[in-house]
Amino acid sequence: MPLELPSLPYAYNALEPYVSSDTLQVHHGKHHRAYVDKTNASIAGSSLVDCSLPEIIGSVAYKAGKRTLFESAGQAWNHEFYWHSMSPEGGGAPKGPVRQRIISTFTDIDSFARHFRDAAVSHFGSGWAWLVLEDNKLKVTTTANADTPITRGQVPLLTIDVWEHAYYLDYQNRRADYVTAFLEKLANWDFANENLRRIERERTAAE
Ligand code: FE2
Repeated sequence: MPLELPSLPYAYNALEPYVSSDTLQVHHGKHHRAYVDKTNASIAGSSLVDCSLPEIIGSVAYKAGKRTLFESAGQAWNHEFYWHSMSPEGGGAPKGPVRQRIISTFTDIDSFARHFRDAAVSHFGSGWAWLVLEDNKLKVTTTANADTPITRGQVPLLTIDVWEHAYYLDYQNRRADYVTAFLEKLANWDFANENLRRIERERTAAE
């Protein structure tokens, strides 16, 4: 079965005015679709054809001659995670267990927001900023181009796409304004909490 473009978890206009319908139609309908299509074309006829995206990514990451497949599969996975990292009801102060973890790691919510915003804004070129769990500790990190934390032993909790295609139609070159809107109006803390609870359940089950 070929991989399919996953549907957005909301309507194309649901994130307006912070991310426009025009941006989401191009970003999801063209960019994300192209990454899925390229991945399918690369794995056609190979042993990877029945694998999940994380399995494909894990099997080709950092391997010579596999960069093109890694990039398209990594981008396909990163984008699906990004759609869920935003919500029309999102933004503002984190809640739930993630909030407690953020306060114990970054001292307070404002310090975390500054840390995340600085990482996303100062990342050079195309890529992603992430809140991840590594060795059971929260961490803000960035990845370049199609790289993804799932090949680094990190568990992603939330991400923002800082490729220009994510914000250029709405913010032109003002990445900082896009990142601020993400934090204040869109960040889906329910999703971050789901990811944290899942990894905590898995860790408990493994003990
Ligand atoms: Fe993107």
